[in-house]
Amino acid sequence: MTALSHVYPIGSRINALGHLEIGGCDATSLAAEFGTPAYFVVEDDLRARARAYVDGLATRHPNSDVLFASKAFPCTAVYRLLAEEGLACDVASGGELALALAGGFDPARIYLHGNAKSAEELRFAVSAGVGHVVLDSLDDCEALEAVAAELGVVQEVLIRVTPDVKGDTHAAISTGQADSKFGFGLAEAPTAIDKVLDTPHLKLVGLHCHIGSQLLELDPFRRAVAALATLGEFDVYNLGGGLGVAYQETQEPPSIADYVATLVETAHAELGAGKRLLIEPGRSLVANSTVTLYTVQTVKRNVSTWVDGGMSDNLRPMLYDSKYEAALAGRMNATGGELCILAGKHCESGDVIARDVELSEPRRGDIVVTPATGAYGYAMANNYTGVPRPPVVFVSGGNAHVVVRRESYEDLTARDV
Ligand code: LLP
Repeated sequence: MTALSHVYPIGSRINALGHLEIGGCDATSLAAEFGTPAYFVVEDDLRARARAYVDGLATRHPNSDVLFASKAFPCTAVYRLLAEEGLACDVASGGELALALAGGFDPARIYLHGNAKSAEELRFAVSAGVGHVVLDSLDDCEALEAVAAELGVVQEVLIRVTPDVKGDTHAAISTGQADSKFGFGLAEAPTAIDKVLDTPHLKLVGLHCHIGSQLLELDPFRRAVAALATLGEFDVYNLGGGLGVAYQETQEPPSIADYVATLVETAHAELGAGKRLLIEPGRSLVANSTVTLYTVQTVKRNVSTWVDGGMSDNLRPMLYDSKYEAALAGRMNATGGELCILAGKHCESGDVIARDVELSEPRRGDIVVTPATGAYGYAMANNYTGVPRPPVVFVSGGNAHVVVRRESYEDLTARDV
């Protein structure tokens, strides 16, 4: 048995047959049983990362909570598992709120985000009894006041601040810089704070910031906390998510423990030790728990390998130029492969899942694995080219079960009237 790199789910290895094994299951058997493409989530991996966050924060700062940034993997079974592990939940829309409730989260530990919330979403959240709403603009403040007044409640809120900190990540997922579309800039924040303090059905409890996603360095997080400290004293601080993960073996992101320690140390130094601290990781909780399996459909000129999925199950390479590893799940030890382009089945040239991946003599029927697809894969899946979305399969201790079934052709017409 050979262990695999940290890009793969914890406990993954190459078995005696030279096949990929995840969660105690042979990946080629999983592909045969559940079909491809499919997302396979290793439950033990997800639980281990959830515990690293919950224990890591609680031991360093007991007055705290870890929120699952559920946009990363909005699947009921994932909500359920993370609720079981004691996390709270961040939702960014009415739909995510409905999923979080279905997954069993206590409404008081669900927190609503959104930079363009509708009155309907606000009404849903307030009447469900969400813990707090994160305000993103003055219009948001007025709309929430109207809803809270109508329902006769006082709603706790945080104000989202854009701290003018730019981390090193793709522009599309950078949110802390001054020209971000999110929240209030440092110069506008005092006006927003005064306004909320003057709004009868809103109770301001603190500030929020989220500077971006897939950040591989810790210093921008420190600078963001320092920027929040300039805006006065509050009871609650939500420091967002954003810790990056390894998509490729050469990437070494900070550990969850180091990240949490840095946030807590900086919060103690800049904000004081008596505050309530919230963090909302998405990617770093779920990304490496999951792999996608595909089947090779055709090989052209032996450099381009076409599989049965692509931009309908993983948009990230197309949107952010994200790099993924790929391997032949049935010949993990084969060496001397040619550099291949792993192309998807969709009708456009940009539908390439990975470039320059070493695959040894790929042929029709081979199972291909792309690791680290748990974050924003299922979340951004779509039906482009009429492709039904893949199932989600949980794998643990040598057993596997479907938690979201594969879409059918009937599903594609299910909303027709
Ligand atoms: N909190 C807020 C307010 C957020 O907007 C986000 C992510 C998170 C927490 C979680 O951030 P994470 O820990 O996952 O970095 N689709 C993109 C990522 C968009 C992230 C949006 N906000 C991608 O696939 O890279």
